[in-house]
Amino acid sequence: MLRNALVAAALPALLLCVTAAAAQGDAGGDQVKLGERLVNQSCVVCHFAPQITSGSYAPALSKDTLGGNAEIMHQFIADGSPRMPGFKYQFKPDQIDAIVAYIKTISPTAAAPPPRKPRSDAGAD
Ligand code: HEC
Repeated sequence: MLRNALVAAALPALLLCVTAAAAQGDAGGDQVKLGERLVNQSCVVCHFAPQITSGSYAPALSKDTLGGNAEIMHQFIADGSPRMPGFKYQFKPDQIDAIVAYIKTISPTAAAPPPRKPRSDAGAD
């Protein structure tokens, strides 16, 4: 009872922190919307495609991506990797920030592929 009240009181504060972190002093909602648009244009082909059922080409993106570190995400998106094109010539730094802000709103459970069925022959683990 008291515990529930405490949790109820703590939750909005926690949500506020998360929102503030994602917005990073910018016009929060607009930045996230811009990021969502850019991701839909440029990233979904590899990251959120229908391929999710067949195992997508690229890892799912969520706020836990790269340890949830916005700077590392920014760097990765700008520079790419041997398997992913970099976007630093296509997007301005603040557009990449918007993309990161949007990724930070995606919950890992929504992005993750469905859990694998436990293997029946798995040992005690
Ligand atoms: C051509 C396909 C492709 C496109 C387009 C693409 N990615 Fe990727 N992305 C990949 C692949 C493949 C990886 C895994 C890279 C690796 O392991 O080297 C990756 C990895 C990442 C990672 C690191 C994920 C992790 O868990 O390590 C981030 C962040 C990321 N991409 C963001 C983006 C964003 C944002 C966009 C759009 C602006 C984008 N990607 C567009 C293929 C793509």
